[in-house]
Amino acid sequence: MMNKHTVIIEPNAADLARKGAEMFSKSAKDSVGLRGRFTVTISGGSTPRHMHRILAEEPYLSEIPWGKTHIFWADERCVPENNPASNFGLARKDFVDQVPVPPNQIHPMPADASPMEGAEIYQKAVIDIFHLRKGESPVFDLILLGIGKDGHTASLFPGQKTPDDKERFVIPVKGGDPFVSRLTMTLSVINHAKNIIFMASGENKADIVKTILEFPQARLPAQSIQPVNGTLTWLLDRESASMLSKELLEEKY
Ligand code: 6PG
Repeated sequence: MMNKHTVIIEPNAADLARKGAEMFSKSAKDSVGLRGRFTVTISGGSTPRHMHRILAEEPYLSEIPWGKTHIFWADERCVPENNPASNFGLARKDFVDQVPVPPNQIHPMPADASPMEGAEIYQKAVIDIFHLRKGESPVFDLILLGIGKDGHTASLFPGQKTPDDKERFVIPVKGGDPFVSRLTMTLSVINHAKNIIFMASGENKADIVKTILEFPQARLPAQSIQPVNGTLTWLLDRESASMLSKELLEEKY
């Protein structure tokens, strides 16, 4: 069985996007209230795009403390920003350019350096922003993740060898669709977050959602997301949750 987590099931993709925006906003306000800033890490892919667009609309445009928000990326494809595969490029278009986040608080992964260099640059940026000492991990307030039909999350793919070094926050990898060089945050960093939310939508994710939640022996990257101290929430729509066993939903969540 996976560690304790919460499953929220929304009626459809539009409600899922609205719920995601609501949870983003709540986390932002709570984090600023408690710690004076909000550090959020977002993912790429198509699932979060509707939520991203909602974030640039009212009430979220005014209600989220954008001036105290730092935006990071869980992964990036090493392509130019104007390439439709660029996670940063899409997020800029969807919301980042339309909300009042100070430019120096927007932290895209460097996709134009060599992947190894890019990982080192991002690692250093994270160390500086979180004022980390040797051996410490950053604790992001919120990390939003998607899942692939093969059980990947961020750019952590099944069968991929990843270093077991807890001091590596960002690594270069190659894989996925498009099959390109990528940068990804490591499991260790993600698992130190205060709140982690997986978002999945549509019936083409139903099978993998069931496998991840009900068959731990599959040992997929998304199953290794197990917060050290934080919370883990699965935000699903009815279609992506359609294969989950009813008993499990009733008993556990
Ligand atoms: C990326 C991702 C990746 C994504 C999943 C789901 O490829 O950049 O961050 O992990 O979240 O592949 O993608 P979809 O939302 O497009 O299904």
